[in-house]
Amino acid sequence: MGAKTPFKDQQSYSLTKKLVPYALYALVPLIFIRLYLYPIPITQSQRSQEEFHTNPISSTSSISTPSPVQEKRPKPKENQCDYFNGKWVHDKWGPLYNGTTCSTIKDGQNCITHGRPDMDYLYWRWRPKQCKLPRFNPSNFLQLVKNKHLVFIGDSMARNQLESLLCLLSSASLPDLVYANGEENKFRRWNFVSHNVNISVYWSPFLVKGIEKSNEFNYNKLLLDLVDEKWAADMDQFDMVVLSVGHWFLHPAVYYDKDVVLGCHYCPGMNYTEIGFYDVFRKAFKTTLKAIIDRRGSNAVDVFVTTFSPAHFEGEWDKAGACPKKEPFKEGEKIVEWMDAEMRKIEVEEVEKAKENAASIAGLRFEALDVTKLSIMRPDGHPGPYMNPFPFADGVKDRVQNDCVHWCLPGPIDTWNEIMLEMIKRLEGHSSRES
Ligand SMILES: *[C@@H]1O[C@H](CO)[C@@H](O)[C@H](O)[C@H]1NC(C)=O
Ligand SMILES: *[C@@H]1O[C@H](CO)[C@@H](O)[C@H](O)[C@H]1NC(C)=O
Ligand SMILES: *[C@@H]1O[C@H](CO)[C@@H](O)[C@H](O)[C@H]1NC(C)=O
Repeated sequence: MGAKTPFKDQQSYSLTKKLVPYALYALVPLIFIRLYLYPIPITQSQRSQEEFHTNPISSTSSISTPSPVQEKRPKPKENQCDYFNGKWVHDKWGPLYNGTTCSTIKDGQNCITHGRPDMDYLYWRWRPKQCKLPRFNPSNFLQLVKNKHLVFIGDSMARNQLESLLCLLSSASLPDLVYANGEENKFRRWNFVSHNVNISVYWSPFLVKGIEKSNEFNYNKLLLDLVDEKWAADMDQFDMVVLSVGHWFLHPAVYYDKDVVLGCHYCPGMNYTEIGFYDVFRKAFKTTLKAIIDRRGSNAVDVFVTTFSPAHFEGEWDKAGACPKKEPFKEGEKIVEWMDAEMRKIEVEEVEKAKENAASIAGLRFEALDVTKLSIMRPDGHPGPYMNPFPFADGVKDRVQNDCVHWCLPGPIDTWNEIMLEMIKRLEGHSSRES
């Protein structure tokens, strides 16, 4: 949250008359994500603004802790390029695919076919300071993951990254959808016959066991000591895992550890202690990474943790122009700070700890796919109003739904997979594996 971003003004935010303006920076994308994934009416009308203000909660206080978290990253080994430190530069080549050549793009992220008129956001490349990031080579990727099962586990950001990868790979080889289950196809698997590669996606927005909020109760329940069996039960079938979560932790929630309530986040009226979501986020990662270490089968497993992907709301999310920028931030114009920095830091630290814990285990490797910085530089890469087809067909309206959280496909998120490919190459090149 930069000083320039007037999130304070969002205290007066209102989506409908029903919605209490307890708007925090955090909750804007949340409410959005909620509506986006689950269009259930939000029933918080009973909570008055006074209640909110007389219950100063740590989502406010933790987000606005006085000292901004500085961006630190583990030093890459000598002679190794730090892919995550760099800048966006013009690129005349543009993306490998588009909305017509790739058939697996989720509607809400298919910006071009939804009529987004500006195209400049497609012509930028990430340039790490110390090296050149090669253009994604689909055959190279498929070759490296030959005979493997690659899984994406997490929330809609995991899905966004998965769909980017499928599109990038589709330019070389077309996958068959071999499994689809769950509302909105939350569990899917594709098979690339050409290389005996399987790629799956598992919906698990907390990674640990959680009960998502519903009409019955308006908060999530997280069981922080238990991993989500929806993915963990299949752990012995995975060779490569990408974990990507974050935004769902900002929702109102009650937290349990071994059946004891630890506390809650934004739960006025309930007799629980507000504990914010940072420690909870860390604990969820600890439980998850430990489960991966404990549950892997005889396979070697590489685990990538995609770090927190910042949202770019400017002002109210349902106002025209909620993320209006048409080009990346310039170097130095935007830094990773506050909540974005804290969430990222927790992920990077927990990956480092998992690395230490798994140091003596052959064939188990953890890496942070540290995309927070390169992503925060791309306010231009979101669908915005083009989450819906031709939003201005009947003229410009005052209120329009905006997605300033997910990424257009093609778009900046393709870079995440480009970097992941380089990391896989590096892991394979310096492999200390038996297999
Ligand atoms: C998508 O790519 C194909 C092949 O490169 C091209 O023929 C087509 O015009 C592109 N469509 C759009 C909307 O850019
Ligand atoms: C991929 O899935 C198919 C079933 O759809 C299975 O026969 C094959 O063994 C799997 N391959 C890998 C590498 O997981
Ligand atoms: C709230 O919790 C405390 C401690 O668990 C308990 O002593 C108190 O009676 C509770 N208050 C209400 C209104 O339930």
